[in-house]
Amino acid sequence: MNEAAPAISCDHSHHDHRRAPAAQRSENDVIRVEHVSFSFRVRGSPANKQTQVLEDVSLNIEAGMNLGIIGPNGAGKTTLLRIMLGLLDGYSGAVTVAGLSPLQACRRGDIIGYVPQRPSAEWRFPLTARQVVRLGLVGKTGLFRRHVPADLEYAEQIMRQVGVAHLADVPIGELSGGQQQRLFIARALVARPQIVILDEPMSGIDAPGQREIGSLIRDLHQALKLTVIVVSHDIEALAAGCTRIACLRKTIHYHDASHGLTPQVLRAVFQHGFEAVLGDESAQV
Ligand SMILES: Nc1ncnc2c1ncn2[C@@H]1O[C@H](COP(=O)(O)OP(=O)(O)O)[C@@H](O)[C@H]1O
Ligand SMILES: [Mg+2]
Repeated sequence: MNEAAPAISCDHSHHDHRRAPAAQRSENDVIRVEHVSFSFRVRGSPANKQTQVLEDVSLNIEAGMNLGIIGPNGAGKTTLLRIMLGLLDGYSGAVTVAGLSPLQACRRGDIIGYVPQRPSAEWRFPLTARQVVRLGLVGKTGLFRRHVPADLEYAEQIMRQVGVAHLADVPIGELSGGQQQRLFIARALVARPQIVILDEPMSGIDAPGQREIGSLIRDLHQALKLTVIVVSHDIEALAAGCTRIACLRKTIHYHDASHGLTPQVLRAVFQHGFEAVLGDESAQV
């Protein structure tokens, strides 16, 4: 089932995390994150009290990559995504997306598609599956203009591609978790972005559904020639065909050398071992 062993690389050679080495640059980078730090102000605390969530994060992402970003809960994964998406400001360091600032890229509407972490709350909106998918066109068309026919046709095509075409007229609240997730993936892709970012795409879905979402992400990566970024609190990103894994816990334990994902790195990031998952080979590194 596992066609190719993923070329995973995690850096554990430097112990001084105050200044991580800059990630290697490539002409094909679609996202560059360089020395990014970010702190939240602690609410109701004395002035200037902050908690640091990201520290000196550097991560360059090449076009066509299928990258997994893994790390435990609270590691700063969603915060890093929100910075890439132009949804969070006030960070230090530099971020570019397709050569633009995150905010500019976000305004273009057709650069990044985003599948947010699924809310645990139930969907009570009286929207059909088709209407949810078409919401993904709003950034492109504008809120008050009519969608062009080509875009509406593409919405039908993408619904077929993610396997929800037969559910087009069903209210979203009546769909299973896995079906809803397919719908949100379709919504993220309908404006034809080059990059799609998925935050914990398999959480809250039963095991068979998770495997299906994993293979769907792999198929879409190939078929649409996407750059894919999958964020996860587990190593389930591997199921989505990620060919590189970055380990995040406040900073990135990763670089482009081919060290391999070692139990030592995983233990440092997750504070427990993954030997059972990775097998004996990885323990030799
Ligand atoms: N809006 C916010 N205000 C204050 N703290 C926040 C906010 N969002 C997230 N945090 C804190 O930042 C840390 C990282 O959060 P997050 O990026 O969501 O982690 P992850 O996605 O890896 O679980 C957590 O400790 C969280 O409590
Ligand atoms: Mg998160």
